[in-house]
Amino acid sequence: MKNSHHQRLGLPNLGLGVGLRNQHFAYLMRNDPQVDWFEIISENFIDNFGFARHVLERMASIRPIVMHGVSLSIGSTDPLDWNYLQSLKTLADFVQPRWISDHLCWTGVANVNTHDLLPLPLTEESLGHVVQRVRQVQDYLERPLILENPSTYLEFKESTLNEWEFLSELVNETGCGLLLDVNNVYVSSHNHGFDPEHYIRSLPHASIVQLHIAGPTDCGQYLVDTHDQPVPARVWRLYKLAQELTGGVSTLLEWDANIPDFPDLVLELRKAETVIQGVIPDAPLHQTVAQLVSNPVDFQLVSA
Ligand SMILES: [Fe+2]
Repeated sequence: MKNSHHQRLGLPNLGLGVGLRNQHFAYLMRNDPQVDWFEIISENFIDNFGFARHVLERMASIRPIVMHGVSLSIGSTDPLDWNYLQSLKTLADFVQPRWISDHLCWTGVANVNTHDLLPLPLTEESLGHVVQRVRQVQDYLERPLILENPSTYLEFKESTLNEWEFLSELVNETGCGLLLDVNNVYVSSHNHGFDPEHYIRSLPHASIVQLHIAGPTDCGQYLVDTHDQPVPARVWRLYKLAQELTGGVSTLLEWDANIPDFPDLVLELRKAETVIQGVIPDAPLHQTVAQLVSNPVDFQLVSA
């Protein structure tokens, strides 16, 4: 399953992984993990020294771990949260993660955490702001920061850069890496009417360290990244394109609600192998009734 001859930012292709979720702890303590690596939500393990820490220690002893955070708020105008960064660094000392990622977003301002991953206005000014903060975070963590493209439901009319231009400039200026969520590209392209293939082709592929795949929900007017479905064919096609352009990078299946039993999750993950060989699963886009989503921002998962 693993193919590690490609190194980017000195970071290996870990193969196929899933999120470490407490629904699977008991299973994983008794069975072989059947995946190449795990991604953890950093916040779930910071200051948590119970059974979860015990499971993490065990998994970290047998598989590579990547730390994925949701609280960095790299785009906010609030000062960086140094207490949070210190907690991240302490957790990293324990886990020895292959890398640490978060999202290109902001989660609040004036010390209010909305628990949403909110989009930024994409301008030269906001780029300069994020560049300076990414440099500070990287200096403190003593490693490259890996940033994920968010799924978005609104855009700022002030924006002068496309998201792929913004991310490319950010990589140029800071040497950070990218976590390309192909499901988020699909969701955002649908919501804002751009070509998802053009987005993926326009990124700096040598800086893409990891991919996310997931199943969104079609709520009529909007697609929402619910992470509670099999990966639809359209997202698999974008995944194949991304793997061709990058030459093959670490892949993570996100599944955060209605979580299947671990063996079923592994079956869904392994479809990535046949997709790379050109066999796209015939999975439809999951649909739900449109009126459920009156304010789609409220439905964005913190675990994106
Ligand atoms: Fe994601």
